[in-house]
Parts: sequence; structure tokens; C-alpha cells
Amino acid sequence: MSGAARHLYVHLPFCAHRCGYCDFVTLVGRRQGHGAYVDGLLAELELERALLADPVETVFLGGGTPTFTEPAALGRLLRALPPAAEVTVEANPESVTPALAQMLREGGVTRISLGAQSFQPRLLSLLERRAGPADVRAAVHTLRGACFDNISLDLVYGIPGQTPAELARDLVEALALEPEHLSCYELEAKPGTRFTHRYGSELERQAEALEGYFEQVVETLTGAGYRWYETASFCRRAEDAAGRDLRARHNLGYWLGREYLGLGIGAVSTVGGLRWRNAPRLAGYLEALATGETPPREVEELPALVREQERLLLGLRLDRGIELAGVRGALDRGALARLEGGGLARISLEAGSERLELTHRGRFLGGGVAAELIA
Ligand SMILES: C[S@@+](CC[C@H](N)C(=O)[O-])C[C@H]1O[C@@H](n2cnc3c(N)ncnc32)[C@H](O)[C@@H]1O
Ligand code: SF4
Repeated sequence: MSGAARHLYVHLPFCAHRCGYCDFVTLVGRRQGHGAYVDGLLAELELERALLADPVETVFLGGGTPTFTEPAALGRLLRALPPAAEVTVEANPESVTPALAQMLREGGVTRISLGAQSFQPRLLSLLERRAGPADVRAAVHTLRGACFDNISLDLVYGIPGQTPAELARDLVEALALEPEHLSCYELEAKPGTRFTHRYGSELERQAEALEGYFEQVVETLTGAGYRWYETASFCRRAEDAAGRDLRARHNLGYWLGREYLGLGIGAVSTVGGLRWRNAPRLAGYLEALATGETPPREVEELPALVREQERLLLGLRLDRGIELAGVRGALDRGALARLEGGGLARISLEAGSERLELTHRGRFLGGGVAAELIA
């Protein structure tokens, strides 16, 4: 019997070095021994396989730097994972070679999420990135050469000292590569990182300017014909013969509050009213799985109301909002009336069901408006 989780996340934590602003679960300085970690992932997959739907809809290999994983280990992992309509791999530009691109294609990967971050050498070095602008462009060309027709670029904005003109240049450079998808994140000062220690007060000072940067991103990308379908995500509109929907299907699963299984250190799963997060320690993860045990993890129950609240907060990130029926219990009706009156939220009728969504103006205020709607 198959389970309910249609989305599978696989965490590959290895990185060549640690970028100062990053607080993801990463392991640096290990260029070898990745095969043992893949053994662990596949053992965890076997333990949890009954939770997965058949077929799985999406697989996402995130990191860390999945493309830094030893090719033999990465290839073996890809061959062993369940096939899915969308299989995304996060890639760092400097690690993309023709051989890697070919291996990913042969391993069933359909979509690449490439961490560009910026095209300005000064800002990239401030972020402690290894790849320069030429590496980003070369990676896209290499991926196109291997027939990848679904490439997403990640950009960050609000980098200390970044000017609006530099952001404009980043957007022009990114658009010139004609990606199917773009994710544009406001740079967050993650507690405890080197970056926050060094630039935290500068980031606080420029916080007010960020709203303007966000508007600049949205106006430029929608002006170039992209659909602003989620707070930080943009996709080309369906324009090919197949009429493809180029939204990130895996992330849509999260935003729609669907169940997902996560494998690997630090990975989170939400299945059957429970949420668990694997401990971030490699040794404990491998030891447990080598003896057939589930890895050390924190498990919490997710009451129905909490799930509704999460669905409300996440669903309102989407341009199409959410079905009202699924979030009624979490919704503050008085707040909704106020926000409707203020032109920030609206209810629309689609195919006989009511949907709640933020207006264009409401979407710029984003999380604050959504939080107000929670009862
Ligand atoms: C798992 S991370 C890194 C993936 C890949 N290793 C890379 O470096 O491009 C995925 C994305 O999160 C974003 N990100 C990481 N740290 C961030 C931060 N402090 N603030 C905002 N976005 C961040 C970056 O755009 C990055 O591409
Ligand atoms: S930003 Fe990417 S490459 Fe840099 S440390 Fe984080 S996961 Fe690794």
C-alpha cells in the first residue's frame, strides 16, 4: 500500500567551503566519503518508503551543494530514487561541467536550480561565493548544451552596500540567460553566521530600503513577462507547445500545505499529522541507519488548527491564494473584513469555490498581512 506524501526532499550537505551568510545544514572540507552518506539516505528511504505515494510527484535534491557530491555517489543516488514528473537538483555554478550535466540528465533530473546570487564580482566576494559571473553564464550554457529546458536562477538582494543600479544590472544579466524560473530572496541575517556578525548592523540600517528593492524585482521581472506566482518566485508563462506550467512543483507542494518526506541530516518531514526533523549530526545519522534504526530526530504533533494556520500563511504567498474552505478555522473574519476594506485581501469565486488571496498591494506587505488574518 502506498502512502500520502507526494513530495520527496533529499538533503546533500557537502560544500566546498562555507559562504558567510549561510546557515543551512552543511558539511565542509569533506571531498570524499560521500558514498557512505548515500548509503544512509537509501537506508532511510527504505525505512520510510511506505509513507511515499506511488507515483511520487516531485523529488528535490537540496543542500549544501548536491553537485559537489562525488559523481559516482550522486549517480547511484539518482538511479535509486523513485522516478517523478519533476526532479530538481540544486547546483553551484562552479561545479557544473559537461560531464556532470550529462550525468544529471541520465539520472532523470528534469530541473536545475542554480545559485547565482549576483552578477557583481564585488558583491559575490562579499558573500564569499566561489563562482563569478562568468561561471554562472558558463553553467547555464553547459546545462542548455545537455538539453536542460527548465533552469531556475537564485538571486539575493539587499546585500550590504548594493545599490539599486547594481540590482538592476543583476536582473538584466539574469534575464539575458532566459531562465524558465527565478527565485529572488531578500538577504537574511541568519543568527550566528560570520556574515551577521560582520554586517548585521548595516543590514538593519538598510532594512527600510528593502521594500523598494522588492518592488524593483517584481516590476522588472513582471515587466519582462514573468509571472510573480509566489512572494519570491517568478516563472516564464507557458509559451511552449506543451503549454508547460513552469512553477516549481516541489515548492508548490510546501506552499499548498501538502505532506512531504525529507531524507538526510537536518531534513524535515510533515506526514500524517506529525513533523520531524532529523538531527544535523552526520555520525549519529550514519550509525543509526547502519543498524536499521531511524536516525535521531525531533518529532512534534501538528494539531489540525496549526496545520490550517500554516496553510493560510504559506498559501497567501501564492498569487492564486488558497481555497477558503481549507482554512476557515484559522481565519480571523474581523481582520479579513478590515483588510478587504483596505484593499489588501480579497475573496474570489472560482469554479464554484471561494478563494482567499492578497491583492497586488497586499502581496508587497506579505507576511505581515497574512499574520493579521490568523485568528
Ligand atoms: C540551500 S541554499 C544554497 C544552494 C547552493 N548551495 C548555493 O549556494 O547556491 C538555496 C538558496 O537559498 C538562498 N539563501 C541562502 N542563505 C540565504 C540568506 N541568508 N538569505 C537569503 N537567502 C539565502 C540562496 O539564494 C541559495 O541559492
Ligand atoms: S550558500 Fe550554498 S555553497 Fe554556500 S555554504 Fe550554503 S549551501 Fe554551501
